[in-house]
Amino acid sequence: MREHPLDIYEEQAGDISRVLITEAEIQSRVREIGQAISRDYAGRRPVLVGVLKGVLFFMADLLCAITIAPEVDFIAVSSYSQDSRDRGFVRLVKDLEMPIEGRHVLFVEDIIDTGLTLNYLLRTLRARGPASLEVCVLFTKNRHRLIDIPSRYQGFELPDRFVVGYGLDHRESYRNLPFVGELKPHAFQANSESGNMPHKNGGSK
Ligand code: PRP
Repeated sequence: MREHPLDIYEEQAGDISRVLITEAEIQSRVREIGQAISRDYAGRRPVLVGVLKGVLFFMADLLCAITIAPEVDFIAVSSYSQDSRDRGFVRLVKDLEMPIEGRHVLFVEDIIDTGLTLNYLLRTLRARGPASLEVCVLFTKNRHRLIDIPSRYQGFELPDRFVVGYGLDHRESYRNLPFVGELKPHAFQANSESGNMPHKNGGSK
């Protein structure tokens, strides 16, 4: 683990006001979640399904922390949430490569904000007849939640701030930071028409 995370990420460090969740805290929680999944799915071969792209970091570390032998697959969606008329419109742009009928599916997400993406994807996956379908999410933001969906495994609740790192981006930057930090206003205000804090990171998916 790095002791001075901001120092070594010089190029992006100037845009971060503070570290909210350290690399050590993330890794420790991910290990705990991995152990819980290993216990709960012992004797079974679950399919872990992730939504690109933000989940990549969590999925990789989670897979390393799981001691049974899961399979993994990814889907990608396109959503439009900047225009309120299109709010909630989610479209599948990359489907799973494996059938999930009769399989134990664990849906892995980096963040749930409004809940619209997860709601759409769970409906889509449920229609394919999995033996079970559970949710594992690392970060939740509750302030703008429109649809509440229970998650079997959860990591951290985030404050209503613009946060980046460990997969969370702003216009494709900052994903590679191994911790979660708060973005300074100057780093996102130039892209925000109203000057208010956008409630959803990126928003360009
Ligand atoms: C994030 C996350 C979810 C979605 C959740 O993706 O991975 O897919 O937002 O938001 P919601 O609860 O408001 O629907 P993002 O749009 O940031 O794309 P990315 O994973 O490619 O960064």
